[in-house]
Amino acid sequence: MIPLQVREVGYAYEDGPVVLSGLTLAIPAGRALALLGPNGSGKTTLLRLLTGGLVPDSGTVELAGVPIRHDRKGLTALRRAVQLVVQDPDDQLFSASVVQDVSFGPLNLGLPPDEVRARVATALAALGITDLAERPVHLLSFGQRKRVAIAGAIAMRPEVLVLDEPTAGLDPAGQEALLVTLAELRAAGTTVVMATHDVDLALRWADDAAVLAGGRLHTGAAASVLSDTALLAAASLRPTWGHAAAAVLRSHGLSTADSALPRTPEELASFAAPERLGEFSDREKPTDLRA
Ligand SMILES: Nc1ncnc2c1ncn2[C@@H]1O[C@H](COP(=O)(O)OP(=O)(O)OP(=O)(O)O)[C@@H](O)[C@H]1O
Ligand SMILES: [Mg+2]
Repeated sequence: MIPLQVREVGYAYEDGPVVLSGLTLAIPAGRALALLGPNGSGKTTLLRLLTGGLVPDSGTVELAGVPIRHDRKGLTALRRAVQLVVQDPDDQLFSASVVQDVSFGPLNLGLPPDEVRARVATALAALGITDLAERPVHLLSFGQRKRVAIAGAIAMRPEVLVLDEPTAGLDPAGQEALLVTLAELRAAGTTVVMATHDVDLALRWADDAAVLAGGRLHTGAAASVLSDTALLAAASLRPTWGHAAAAVLRSHGLSTADSALPRTPEELASFAAPERLGEFSDREKPTDLRA
């Protein structure tokens, strides 16, 4: 089953240029998709179309094969299944306190108070902001507000979670906490779509990648799309650190063309582990490591 599909969608803002035209994208259930592209390429526009905030000028957006309706009933049904965390937390947060903001969605679903409390506590813990629960939202730092906005969407337990540059403004620990949370959601079957400028994060995290460049969308397996240096350059993106490290490993005989890409410092270190070096013949081992 394909939960979300954009079919031949076109969109232009009023009095603005055409942002997207004839764009098609399928997001299969349970997959993690990274959406990349330069500033102004239309990532946020596409995510707002996916989540019902904008109505396409042409084409359809379909949830589980059914075109979404943009009337009140249709959007209410859509928001139960699909949650968007917008780029700027100040466009999302509106309650006085953190706990009120994160509770708002689950309360609106009509869930019993105990269930709401449990979901809010879990979401706050997942984002490492339990100690901020009673704090006024407007006095929080940007990164803290960003975490609150993500917690609010997670507390809704959506089938599809759509995040617009969620790691921008998060410190490294916050980014790791978010990745752990997203991994848990995915293990539970949640589909996750994330717009990001971070190619290394996309390579590490996503199953699939979609690059918006020059009004066109290039999609495929993340490792393959993100190894296309010409495409990345056309989208104002730098090559991934993992692909650069893989090239160095290959040139030193420490990996082969079909070895998995190192995506983290830990994975890179594993290429130099003694048991790993045993995979290669003496002839292939680099001189400095044989000594
Ligand atoms: N409300 C709006 N009214 C008119 N034009 C808009 C509006 N929002 C965005 N645009 C224009 O639409 C295009 C796509 O913008 P969008 O925000 O989707 O890009 P983006 O890929 O998310 O960029 P960024 O990486 O900066 O977040 C840009 O040219 C932008 O100027
Ligand atoms: Mg954007």
